[in-house]
Amino acid sequence: MNDQHLYYAHTVVGLESILEREIVNAGGSIEEKLPGLIQFRWSAEVFGLFDLGVSEDIFYCLLNMDVSLGKDGLKALEAQVETCKSWEKGLEIFGQLSRRRDKRIRFRVIAQRYGGGQQYVRTVLRDRITNVIARRFPSWKAVADGGNLEFWIWQSKEKVICGLRLSDRTMRHRTYKTNSLSASLRPVVARAMVILTKPTDQDVFLDPMCGAGTLLIERGESGRYRELLGGDLSKQALLATKDNIGPRYKPIRIRQWNACNLPLDSGSVTSVACNLPFGKKIKTKEGLPDLYTRVLGEIRRVIQPYSLTVLLTSERNLLMNLLKKNNKLHIEKVLPVELLGQRAYTVVVRAI
Ligand SMILES: C[S@@+](CC[C@H](N)C(=O)[O-])C[C@H]1O[C@@H](n2cnc3c(N)ncnc32)[C@H](O)[C@@H]1O
Repeated sequence: MNDQHLYYAHTVVGLESILEREIVNAGGSIEEKLPGLIQFRWSAEVFGLFDLGVSEDIFYCLLNMDVSLGKDGLKALEAQVETCKSWEKGLEIFGQLSRRRDKRIRFRVIAQRYGGGQQYVRTVLRDRITNVIARRFPSWKAVADGGNLEFWIWQSKEKVICGLRLSDRTMRHRTYKTNSLSASLRPVVARAMVILTKPTDQDVFLDPMCGAGTLLIERGESGRYRELLGGDLSKQALLATKDNIGPRYKPIRIRQWNACNLPLDSGSVTSVACNLPFGKKIKTKEGLPDLYTRVLGEIRRVIQPYSLTVLLTSERNLLMNLLKKNNKLHIEKVLPVELLGQRAYTVVVRAI
C-alpha cells in the first residue's frame, strides 16, 4: 500500500469537473465527486495541494460514511468520530502545514448541510460532535470563533464527510485582493474561466471589463503569457485593479475604455475572459442587450480566429440568443455555476 492520503476540496457548485481535472493533472486520483466537493487521494508533496487554483478549501478526510437520517444516525457518527483511526495521521499533516506553534489546541466544529430530512438540526449535530472531540482530546478547548483547528462536517441526506481544514482563508480569498468591488468575481470562478481559455505561453489575454482585476490576476497566476490587457469604464474599478495587481504580472496594460469601442487592433488578442455585467449590481445606461451586442462585436473583431472567449453572465437567454445570431462566434460549452444562491453561466465561445 503506498502512502496515499485521503483529502477533499471544496469548490463552487458547477466547477467540480474543472477542479477534478486540476487534481488529476497534478497527480491525484479521484475517489468521489459530490456537489461542490471532490474527495481524492494524493501522494505528492502536501504543500502542492495549495496550488489547486479551483479549490476554495482543502481538508484532510477523517471520515466518509453513510448514516441514517434518524437520531441513531447521529449516534453512529459520534461513535466514528470518537474512535476513527485517521485522526492521528490527519493531525500529523495538519502539524506539518501549520506555521503557528500554539501551546494549546483551540478547536471549533463547522457543520454544513445540503438538503434536509434528518431528525436533528444542524446545531445539535455541531454541538454533539464538539462534545465527542472534547472527550477524545481532553487537553483541547472548544471555541465558538477563531481557534487554531477546524473540524468540518459536510452532510447531504445520509452522506457525511468530516475533515480537518488544512487551508486558511487565503486559499479562498487569495492574498492579492486588497481592493474589492461589490460585483467582484470569486477567485476560483475566475481561475476556472482562465483554465477554460486553454492558456498557452503565447497568450495575449484580454478582459475588456476587468472590474477589480480578478481575471487578469488569475491568468497571471496560471502560467506564462505574452501580455495581459485589461480595461474598464469605471475609474474606481481601474484603481482597484491597479491596487490588486501591484508591481506583478508584467507585461500588462490597464486602461480606461469603453468595451464597446476597444482601442485595440483587429486580431491582436489570443484569448478573452470576461465577467459581463448582470444588470443588477452594475447598471448600464445602454441596457444589457445593446451592451452585450456591442461588446461581443468588439471581442470578435480583436480576437484571432479559432481562439477562445469565456464569458460569465446570469443573462443566459440574452447571451445565447445573441451568440446564436452571430455566425462568427460558435458556442462550445455552457457550464452553470452557483454564485451566492444565484445561477450564472460560463459560456465558452470559439471565434470562427
Ligand atoms: C461584473 S463586473 C466585472 C467584475 C470583475 N470580473 C471582478 O472580478 O472584479 C463588470 C464591470 O464592467 C464594467 N463595465 C460596464 N460597462 C462597461 C463598458 N461599456 N465598458 C467597459 N467596462 C464596463 C463595470 O464598471 C464593471 O467593473
